[in-house]
Amino acid sequence: MIPRDTVDRITDAAHVEDVVGEFVTLKKRGTNLLGLCPFHGEKTPSFTVSPTKGIYKCFGCGKAGNSVNFIMEHLKLSYPEALRWLAKKYNIEIVEKEITPEDRQRQTERESLFIVMQYAQRYFTEQMRTTDEGKSIGLGYFQERGLHDTIIEKFQLGYSPESRNAFTKAAVKAGYQPKYLSASGMSIVRNGTEENKELTEADLFDRFAGRVMFPVLDEAGRVVAFGGRTLSSDKKTAKYINSPETEIYHKSRVLYGLWYAKRAIQNADTCYLVEGYMDVIAMHQAGVENVVASSGTSLTIEQIKSIHRFTKNIVVLYDGDEAGQKASMRAIPMLLEEGMNVRLLMFPDNDDPDSFSRKVGAEEFQNYLRDKSQDFLFFRAERLKSISSGDPIQRAGLIRELVENIALIPDNIIRSVYIRQCAVIMEMEEQILQNEVNKLRRNLSSKIKSKSGGAESAEPSSEQGSAPEAELADTPAVQDLSPDYDHEEIELIRLMMQFGNVYIEIEGEDEDTAENHTIDIPAADYILFELWRDEMHFENPMHQAVLDEYIHEYKNSRFATAQQFLNSSNPFVNQFVLKHVLNSHELSSKWKHFGVEVPAEVDNLKRGIEHVLFSYKEKKLRAFIHEKQDLLKTTGEPDIWDLLRELDDLKKVKSRVNKYLGRTVVK
Ligand code: CTP
Ligand code: MN
Repeated sequence: MIPRDTVDRITDAAHVEDVVGEFVTLKKRGTNLLGLCPFHGEKTPSFTVSPTKGIYKCFGCGKAGNSVNFIMEHLKLSYPEALRWLAKKYNIEIVEKEITPEDRQRQTERESLFIVMQYAQRYFTEQMRTTDEGKSIGLGYFQERGLHDTIIEKFQLGYSPESRNAFTKAAVKAGYQPKYLSASGMSIVRNGTEENKELTEADLFDRFAGRVMFPVLDEAGRVVAFGGRTLSSDKKTAKYINSPETEIYHKSRVLYGLWYAKRAIQNADTCYLVEGYMDVIAMHQAGVENVVASSGTSLTIEQIKSIHRFTKNIVVLYDGDEAGQKASMRAIPMLLEEGMNVRLLMFPDNDDPDSFSRKVGAEEFQNYLRDKSQDFLFFRAERLKSISSGDPIQRAGLIRELVENIALIPDNIIRSVYIRQCAVIMEMEEQILQNEVNKLRRNLSSKIKSKSGGAESAEPSSEQGSAPEAELADTPAVQDLSPDYDHEEIELIRLMMQFGNVYIEIEGEDEDTAENHTIDIPAADYILFELWRDEMHFENPMHQAVLDEYIHEYKNSRFATAQQFLNSSNPFVNQFVLKHVLNSHELSSKWKHFGVEVPAEVDNLKRGIEHVLFSYKEKKLRAFIHEKQDLLKTTGEPDIWDLLRELDDLKKVKSRVNKYLGRTVVK
């Protein structure tokens, strides 16, 4: 682990304008710098860098962060990797701190797996290039399928020999431990091997024997898995087998080809989605590099999100066959819901991109891609129109499907454009279509609400992840009964981060003499004490996570300011600071700009804190009392007396809290 003070030295040295400036051309604009956002394709600059705050923010795509975030995002590095990258740039020496044995174990396990995978890739390539079997069978196969040598090399293709344990044997001989060969999924433990025994070479055999090998790379370009294709045409052997899930390979997150496609996707602002390994490779050979495949699984939300980071535009390339059609039909609603613009492209005669590109050649293939894709929703609408004279039941079903798809689109404007255009295509009244879509969206909106109502399901979502809910607000929302604590929770954390070290004067009661006296304590102590005294936990798990980290750092009294929390390795904390703490500075400076003097928050700190704190307590108490009252309806003797007493106590506390808030309560 990189020690805290080294992290601080790195983040101090890495001025955001300097780091960003290495990748983006920045122009001075007032106190800020402005450039074209590297994270989304844009033509007018909305990417702002604030040297004084040490952050960047894009007003187009919403990406924001400090210099470390920038390197993580732009170079697709993990937090420690980004720190190392910056340390190198600024010549800061990193002396790694001792890590716990568990950390080390995990770390070495992951690292060992990466190393095994890298070894495997080199082994398979070497087998294909240097052995007779490899050359004639493996290389021969790829050549027969028309792949040029440069492409075979680019995709690091290889061959796994037919003998049942050739790879395992070679790997053990090269010093790789059998347990990692098994954990990496490259070797399989023989049936009947005693559990928990220390594995030896004899317990293992190769997963991929006798197959041509396609390495799967993660976003940092490391081999994390393989797909292996059989060379036999026996229908009983699976055509492809893939690595199992491992510590370093999570199928649902990886897209085949993304590593090779990133740049091209950004440049073209479009991504082609295909089904297979060979489709990706063949398209590269035909000069089209902005292509990925979800190989081996049906497309997942995480995969869609990783495409979305580079572009909003996706073209789904259908295999003509039924399986291909089904797979794309499943993927499309997910793509629409993510806010992607979805186009479709079909190939004639059961061809897939691989076979079609070989049939027609690179130039014609590229023309075909350019000219023949259709907007998915318009395509469906056309189709509907063409069968309008036919079966009314089928037509009703198709309209329903179209409406369902349109309703998924999160952006209001784009959605209404589709409604209008589809109505025109189908020669039906726009209002009818609009009404149907609205109806569905109301259902959708209540579904999302009820989902987010359950505390457990409130998994911390990324900033963008929470957008659909906000977007749905244009339809009449379903009454939400559970009170919303977000505002107070955010305020409390913000106050601690901004003013935690400021001393405030509070009234305390001396425990021995019961006399009142005033004491000065840091604002953070006061807030934490008040929360602790009433055993209050934040309702929003994301806020609780930030609070936990605050408390942790506060105790170590290292990190107590917002700027320092900005450098947190925990993305929730970091994003919280960006969104709620640093932004709030802007308000008062904006007023100042108009010549209005705003009393500094710090001058009124105690009252400000008390107000938030007691509003929060009041809300919580109110909900708690409600809960008890509900319970009262179903409780009988003798428990009812306890409950009544409890309620009485609660009401007393509540009136005390209300007094603080300066309200009189009638009830
Ligand atoms: N696939 C798989 N397991 C299988 C079959 C297919 O994981 N048993 C995945 C592979 O990633 C494959 C993709 O699904 O590339 C598409 O399968 P398919 O259309 O059957 O194969 P092609 O890509 O056309 O393969 P090839 O051209 O090599 O026959
Ligand atoms: Mn194929």
